[in-house]
Amino acid sequence: MDSILVTGNGPLNGQIPIAGAKNACLTLMPATLLSEEPLTLTNAPRLSDIKTMTALLQSLGAEVSSLQDGQVIAMSSHSLTSQTADYDIVRKMRASNLVLGPLLARFGQAVVSLPGGCAIGARPMDLHVEGLEALGAEIELKDGYLHAKAPGGLKGAVHEMRFASVGATENIVMAATLAKGTTVLKNAAREPEIVDLVECLRKMGAQISGEGSSTIEIQGVDRLHGATHQVVTDRIELGTYMLAPAICGGEVELLGGRMALVESFAAKLDAAGVSVTETQNGMKVARKNGRVQAVDVVTEPFPGFPTDLQAQMMALMCTAEGTSVLEERIFENRFMHAPELVRMGANIEVHGGTATVTGVETLKGAPVMATDLRASVSLILAGLAAEGETTVSRVYHLDRGYEHVVRKLEGVGAKIERIKGE
Ligand code: UD1
Repeated sequence: MDSILVTGNGPLNGQIPIAGAKNACLTLMPATLLSEEPLTLTNAPRLSDIKTMTALLQSLGAEVSSLQDGQVIAMSSHSLTSQTADYDIVRKMRASNLVLGPLLARFGQAVVSLPGGCAIGARPMDLHVEGLEALGAEIELKDGYLHAKAPGGLKGAVHEMRFASVGATENIVMAATLAKGTTVLKNAAREPEIVDLVECLRKMGAQISGEGSSTIEIQGVDRLHGATHQVVTDRIELGTYMLAPAICGGEVELLGGRMALVESFAAKLDAAGVSVTETQNGMKVARKNGRVQAVDVVTEPFPGFPTDLQAQMMALMCTAEGTSVLEERIFENRFMHAPELVRMGANIEVHGGTATVTGVETLKGAPVMATDLRASVSLILAGLAAEGETTVSRVYHLDRGYEHVVRKLEGVGAKIERIKGE
């Protein structure tokens, strides 16, 4: 298994290009199942999760080609052969559950294994099921699979979600595009990836309004057609690399970054003493003077502080002046990076969903283990700021969500290399 060797090397300076959003691409790809005509995505990130979704769509009979070094994904669901998403693929990645809504809408039936993915909590699918049932689907859980059918087709309805789940919003919106009549989805998630999905669905002929707010209205249409769509910038990759100069010092420009994607996160960095400004080509981040100051963080659905940046922010707080409290409200069990950061000399106490971090002047390099996608990159950030060498093992987690991480960080002066394992 490969590992990543990081050696603390002082301030970082230069530019880092930000890729298209993994989480947007993973919901845009299943949208191909809604139409017989081709859907092409540009600005796609080159990640193992995208390969997993490709394999899943191909297992359903879709044609999926990766062009221009993986940055363009051309898909056609003209002649699908299966409506079953198998456990062997779904267990690798929770976002596989996003084929449920589209398959059900187009074929009136779908069988989808309950998902796997990062081990960061129970992550059930009850909110997806409740929303699709509101549209008239009958769904049963048998042998680890959700068996869904809608013999007379889906019908528009007013539905209020108990919690603004990102995936459930995406599944329900996709399903409603082909339902009869109007669907009003209340307490919908507002993440930029949902706005991106709706923009793409609209290009395919869907009639949707209200995306980005907590009420989305979908007027069902008989069919959707082909489209080409550019995947939105990855705000989590953006936020992660914004932390690189924050933790190491220096000044880095994030190409393609936009403030609107990371407003609450940028506000926290500003409060910690890190300057964030928009430039013509993206955003510039620089540490103002000396050590960053401790700030408290509470993770919340968008536009709040993203849970997917909590681990990386914790790495920064490990080196801050003062004590910060990080409260995780989206996923239970999402502090698995904390004991690894402690191995590097961090002072962290975890009680339930709250971590209290007292900053230390310097972290020390150590062998550490990645436990999930965002945890893995938080250990790399900590390693960049630490004295000596840090080896991060189990980097397959990293490959799920960060393309060319070594190349991107080397480009701004980091000392980082990938060590090939057996
Ligand atoms: C998406 C993102 C993930 C991010 C998360 C929250 C993708 C591919 N992944 O995941 O990176 O961390 O949003 O911003 O876009 N829940 C239920 N029942 C459900 C669905 C969810 O209880 O039916 C719970 C989950 O266990 C979790 C919370 O709701 O505690 C948030 O989940 P959700 O918003 O659905 O996240 P995902 O779509 O899985």
